[in-house]
Amino acid sequence: MRKLTLISLLTLSAGCMSVYAETVHVSTPKTSLVLDAVKGEPLKFVYYGNSLGGNDITNINSAVNQEFDAYPVYGLWPQKEAAMSAVHADGNMTLDMGVSDVRTRTEPDGSTVTTVTMADKVYPFYVDVNYRTYPGSDVIETWTVTSHDEKKPVTLTRFMSGYLPIRRNDVHVSQLYGSWANEGKVEEAPLPHNLKVIKNKDGARNSHTSHSEVMISLDGKGNEQSGRVIGAALCYGGNYKLMFDTDDSDYHHFFAGINEENSSYNLKKGEKFETPALALTYSEEGLGGVSRNFHKWGREHRLANGDKLRKVLLNSWEGVYFDINESGMGQMMKDIADMGGELFVMDDGWFGVKYPRKNDSTSLGDWTVDTSKLPNGIKGLCETADSLGIRFGIWIEPEMTNSKSELYEKHPEYIIKASNRDAVEGRGGTQLVLDLANPKVQDLVFNVVDTLMTNYPEIDYIKWDANAPIMNHGSQYQTADNQSHLYIDYHKGLEKTLQRIREKYPDLTIQACASGGGRANWGILPYFDEFWVSDNTDALQRIYMQWGTSYFFPAIAMASHISASPNHQTNRIVPLKYRTDVAMSGRLGMEIQPKDMSDEEKEQTRRAISDYKKIRPIVQQGDIYRLLSPYDQKGAASLMYVSPDKKDAVYYWWKTEQFVNQQLPRVKMAGLDPDKEYTVTELNRVDNAPLPYEGKTFSGRYLMSNGLEMPLSHNVDWNKRNDYASRVLLLQSK
Ligand code: DGJ
Repeated sequence: MRKLTLISLLTLSAGCMSVYAETVHVSTPKTSLVLDAVKGEPLKFVYYGNSLGGNDITNINSAVNQEFDAYPVYGLWPQKEAAMSAVHADGNMTLDMGVSDVRTRTEPDGSTVTTVTMADKVYPFYVDVNYRTYPGSDVIETWTVTSHDEKKPVTLTRFMSGYLPIRRNDVHVSQLYGSWANEGKVEEAPLPHNLKVIKNKDGARNSHTSHSEVMISLDGKGNEQSGRVIGAALCYGGNYKLMFDTDDSDYHHFFAGINEENSSYNLKKGEKFETPALALTYSEEGLGGVSRNFHKWGREHRLANGDKLRKVLLNSWEGVYFDINESGMGQMMKDIADMGGELFVMDDGWFGVKYPRKNDSTSLGDWTVDTSKLPNGIKGLCETADSLGIRFGIWIEPEMTNSKSELYEKHPEYIIKASNRDAVEGRGGTQLVLDLANPKVQDLVFNVVDTLMTNYPEIDYIKWDANAPIMNHGSQYQTADNQSHLYIDYHKGLEKTLQRIREKYPDLTIQACASGGGRANWGILPYFDEFWVSDNTDALQRIYMQWGTSYFFPAIAMASHISASPNHQTNRIVPLKYRTDVAMSGRLGMEIQPKDMSDEEKEQTRRAISDYKKIRPIVQQGDIYRLLSPYDQKGAASLMYVSPDKKDAVYYWWKTEQFVNQQLPRVKMAGLDPDKEYTVTELNRVDNAPLPYEGKTFSGRYLMSNGLEMPLSHNVDWNKRNDYASRVLLLQSK
């Protein structure tokens, strides 16, 4: 191990400097990342964890037994996994990088970026390794920018965003997995020897199956409230790869970045290749601490309009599916307005002239209103919404077309398709993906939004759907030698287009939907205000999916709707009270035909919406504390949100199994101020009598040590009994 003889310490804080540094300290309020940057030598990783100062930073190098490059490259000692590999213009497949410069700068958004530039010792090939911190946030974003001055293109064959060595010690990894209508399930396992790979190859969307985020519990099984946990989130909407290599060293080696499979990139002289950010956080407050760090960073720095409260909406999809017509939309708007909702969203089925959109097999790309369904067009609907005092939103799927559409007839060259082969068609047997690498397609997609917004500036919300993966490898736009750029350039094109949209329409609310939860990712969320968690709206299954999704994403971004019973996906019969209590733990909305609801149900919903508006700042801007996991199969699940000043909180409890004389655990609360006194008010009460502690006051200390007993069932008349029970409690202090 190389000994430190000289320590010149660079602590990154606001301000702009260009300093040679031997020890680089990237610090956040509660965490430190320490690197060793010696000119001409590879950048070394020294430490990532709890905040360090003084002697610890000075002496830390003497306390480690193995040293690793902070951004390992392939070529010399090729046995090891690397974060980057490349083939030089002359065919040489090796890299040998040394530090040439360390700089810090303050960005206009207040963040501080440190850049360590590394240069190859022989070739004019450069990699900038960047680290970004924000004041008050415990997340560090890391990414790289690669460039070169070689005569011909250099082919990048691996290009991870970041690498982290993790000391072995019964390390467990929690990840999300699933499938359509079953997204965001939690799986936790100890790290095996050899490779553990989490990857996506969908091309267009990337969170139906696995997710590009993980929690790494350093001391055995993850605990919600305590223990050392690293959180890692790759902020990228395309194909990704997360890799844990456990070799014969004392460390696991974690890599995360764009999935390089079938995606080698020919980088031209002077061109820059920028990887997406890998967001890292560390907490000693367990899995919950990592979630809170991600949520705060996400709301403050990544999610579009993360500081604005979201409206309560009704979406037309499960209410009418493709059966859109003017009077039906008017009736739904009136119903949601009567129940206190603030926004109505018309889903799929409103467009197509030559090919009217009657089902999922035609018309994508033809974004002209079908006046046989809507004689007064979108204008008429906006006027109705306005007269009812609500806002209007609309569904589009602008990255796609159908082979039965006017767009495809005019521009067959716009779709993704391998040369010499027929196009592969998806949803409805005819869906095709547009080639966003093509600047003309980028303009087309931008114009879908721009035309709608120019014609109907009243539109307040867009649901942006994406219901197909990339179904064959081929770009009609790219040259033959750059076909491997398809996946990467699709997302570059998408991002460029979304940036243009956001520059022009910063206040428009845009939902990322992709056959449900296919776009829950921090790479896409800077352009979106929220995402649709899943096409499955069944309340019981949502508890599991929303629990997992909350590991990395805050409630403000999780669209969560009350839908019909029996549920359209699971056929489960679930009482309105339970459906409401689950939906109210995210961004509350409705996905139902209100005319099928009884007056009593409408009244119950009206009260719930009114109460949700009161707790909305706590749910949408508060800190989450997950208390009892549904995955632990204890018969119930529970979580709570606490306002940042700890004055108020909302507690949720849902029974997940129904047996007679069950012994359910009494759930301790968390995150409260032990010295504050909280008064309990039950929301959405259906019981004939209030809970015994209704209106009573308890200290945070008592609630966090003991919690409150939840009755096993609801105290309702015989004819209203069912096999569900749930509670929402508002806790308020003075
Ligand atoms: C898939 C989405 O996830 C649904 O919510 C709905 O918008 C349909 N597409 C419409 O085709």
